[in-house]
Amino acid sequence: MTEFKRYLLTSALPYANGPLHIGHLSGAYLSADIFARYLRLMGKEVLFVCGSDEHGAAITLRAQKENCSPQEIIDKYDAQFRDVFQKMGISFDIFHRTSSALHHETSQDFFRTLYRNGQFIEQTTEQYFDETAQQFLADRYITGVCPKCANPDAYGDQCEKCGASLNPTDLKEPRSVLSGEKPVLKATTHWFLPLNKHENWLREYIEQGTIDGAPHHDPSDWKTHVVGQCKSWLDGGLQPRAMTRDLAWGVDVPPEIAGSAGKKLYVWMDAPIGYISATKQWAADHQKDWRNYWQNDETALIHFIGKDNIVFHCLIFPAILKAHGGFNLPVNVPANQFMNLEGKKISTSRNWAVWVHEYLQDFENQQDALRYNLVKNMPEQRDSEFTWKNFQETNNNELVNNLANFVHRVVVLTHKYYGGVVPIFDADEPFSSPLDGEDSYFDFEMTELHGKVEQFCAAMEGYDFRGAMKIFMEISSYGNQLLQNNEPWKREKTDPEQVKTVLSVAMQIVGVLSVVCRPFLPFTSDKLRKMLNMSILEDKGDLENVLETLAEGQELVPSGHKIGEPEHLFTRIADETIEAQVKKLQTTLLEETPENVTYEPIKDTVSFDDFAKIDLRTATILTAEKVKGAKKLLHLTLRLGFETRTVVSGIAEFFQPADLIGQQVLLVANLAPRQLKGIESNGMILMATGADGKLAFVSPPKGLADGMIVR
Ligand code: 2FM
Ligand code: ZN
Repeated sequence: MTEFKRYLLTSALPYANGPLHIGHLSGAYLSADIFARYLRLMGKEVLFVCGSDEHGAAITLRAQKENCSPQEIIDKYDAQFRDVFQKMGISFDIFHRTSSALHHETSQDFFRTLYRNGQFIEQTTEQYFDETAQQFLADRYITGVCPKCANPDAYGDQCEKCGASLNPTDLKEPRSVLSGEKPVLKATTHWFLPLNKHENWLREYIEQGTIDGAPHHDPSDWKTHVVGQCKSWLDGGLQPRAMTRDLAWGVDVPPEIAGSAGKKLYVWMDAPIGYISATKQWAADHQKDWRNYWQNDETALIHFIGKDNIVFHCLIFPAILKAHGGFNLPVNVPANQFMNLEGKKISTSRNWAVWVHEYLQDFENQQDALRYNLVKNMPEQRDSEFTWKNFQETNNNELVNNLANFVHRVVVLTHKYYGGVVPIFDADEPFSSPLDGEDSYFDFEMTELHGKVEQFCAAMEGYDFRGAMKIFMEISSYGNQLLQNNEPWKREKTDPEQVKTVLSVAMQIVGVLSVVCRPFLPFTSDKLRKMLNMSILEDKGDLENVLETLAEGQELVPSGHKIGEPEHLFTRIADETIEAQVKKLQTTLLEETPENVTYEPIKDTVSFDDFAKIDLRTATILTAEKVKGAKKLLHLTLRLGFETRTVVSGIAEFFQPADLIGQQVLLVANLAPRQLKGIESNGMILMATGADGKLAFVSPPKGLADGMIVR
């Protein structure tokens, strides 16, 4: 990592339209917090900014759903964000709001400058307009039939059923979400940023890390998936992008610009400028100059985001900044991928999430247990997964059994043998090394520790937070091994000098842990410092001091120092607690009413006797091939146990023949034979129709023999 005088860290501004879940936390907030805390511990000047993103269709849609004003929505969630972030220990220097007057002014000024510098092109396009509501419709305000999968409720920008990315005009039978009416196409003029004209320098910036030939950053410091995503956007060719919208809620296009009436800034034009307005507010509050953070190349600008925001932070925002001129561009965008939950994608609308505010209620004072698990599974390079079982395991096996156990033993033994005073020891006294069981000495162990802390720093500086946390836990394991090898609890009577030296080394390890744990486990760091009776860290170069002290072979927790009382750092999480959480999630699934399903009416009643005439059997597909000259038909042979059957089935559109071999099915075995394309079909396979129109087999549970009766 290149050294800078100053660091400006930003976390993606969360949309103030819903609560935060663990995916948000691990994606853009915890990662940034870890880095901010680390840099502060290394004595760097850091400013860490964030705030609520309070514009865009997401907010107005939510307001409409909850039947209240957008202002009420943003006030509610902005307050919740502040509370949740503070409780989780996310150490923002400022959490601002894009609804503030300062932000409106700042983003308007930006727009004005770009406009005056001729950076926009004006384009008139046809967009959907709701004549009843008398307004243009944002993409999310239009629904209709998906041209790809016929889902009747696809949105103007995307079909949530088949995942197709759409334009509003792609939809068949479009409807306005506002009035339910068919919208009309109407011409509207907007200001576009011609991203195509920025393509060349952006490619150079991403691929070489240079801007107009001048070195800017080392591209090998960037994560591969981030560079990969940028390159694929660049390879696809950038298009002019509208920077304004016809909306009622948002930042006004500066009123002096002709044609600005009713136009608002596109939310991705205003939101990233929120980082700048947050900095301005912080600077005003602290009598500092905001320009030092944005217009000074001694400052490193680093954006922490989730992968869905990569294009905005690596291409579009840099283009806006460069078009303005005089602003720093990001030196890194260490985006994270996504975190799944119990095998499924986290989904806000389906309530498939662990909500942070609920966690805080259910697990009081256990913030660090969650932080630890989220770092351990941080989706730094690829998508990852949170499971409650794993959360329990990392808490019980790693935090309780390793870290808390080690610290507790050291503190308790120091109280028991030396009245809580770190003993004066003999540095020439040998003891068994935790590394290999051979003789070791105090100085040697301090050098070892120094080396580990250096490795820790290297991982941190490479944005490898999982790796850094692993090293921190290895230091704790190392301490446990030291105690295990030397068993001070058995030898205090027989070998008191050696026990003093061993416990002094162990005490230094606790001292190191109290500092290196801080980026991940800030609440634990405070508890450890209290137990050591040492000052709570002020996040001003404490880790630098540790490195210096260890390098000089000095003690971090010196002989003669009186420590504090032992305290439990972590508590075991019981099976019942975890089961309750899993149950809560599963209830969500049961309560879920699938969206966009059209239910067919129930058919006429049949008598039991009529139903009982149908002979349903279990059977397995042995062979499958396409029927020549029939697109929909497959020629199947089925094993019924007591015989083999030929069945012609109309499922060819949905399955590849080779995938069907071995598939167990339910067969209507006494259906009268039918001739289909010259083949006699003897029975019919039962299929369920999915909400998406696709067919699925209705299969018996595994292990059932073929030919069995179903009734
Ligand atoms: O994706 C989101 O949640 C956006 N609100 C992120 C905005 S980041 C920034 F540009 F403000
Ligand atoms: Zn679709």
